[in-house]
Amino acid sequence: MCKNYFAVASMLMLTTACSQGEVSFRSDVNPILQANCAVCHSRGGVGYAKSGFSVASYSDVMKGTRYGRVIIPGSSVSSTLVRLIKHQADPSINMPKEYTVIEHEHRQYILPGANARSLSSHDTELIANWVDQGAKNN
Ligand code: HEC
Repeated sequence: MCKNYFAVASMLMLTTACSQGEVSFRSDVNPILQANCAVCHSRGGVGYAKSGFSVASYSDVMKGTRYGRVIIPGSSVSSTLVRLIKHQADPSINMPKEYTVIEHEHRQYILPGANARSLSSHDTELIANWVDQGAKNN
């Protein structure tokens, strides 16, 4: 949090320091989704097959599942995606799910486990902040 410990004269500097908190979809959020979710949430993946949720593009992320949105711009507390990565839902649906990869006749299959891994708190906070800042395509 930015606290004003300084005289009014340094306000301009402080404003600059605070605004570095603007989270970017392209350079902050999307790399986390690609590294942790895409294996299941893209066409052909088990998460996509079950829920319809894909992280292939910004518009896919915003579209949500086949039942509706998982991101409510401006409100991380009402966004399903944030609740799932903060492990605030039922353990069987928290994200990202654990998985094992098996090979069968030269093909790889992803078997989702019953439980979820935890993203680092740094990554969950980045995503939550991005949603609270309006979930922009920035
Ligand atoms: C190992 C595979 C796997 C990974 C990795 C994974 N998911 Fe999922 N995800 C699933 C499955 C399977 C479902 C369908 C729910 C179920 O039946 O368990 C699902 C469902 C969802 C849903 C829809 C929940 C609902 O309301 O129906 C969201 C949102 C979601 N995942 C987000 C994510 C995010 C974000 C990540 C990465 C941080 C992630 N998932 C990583 C497999 C995965």
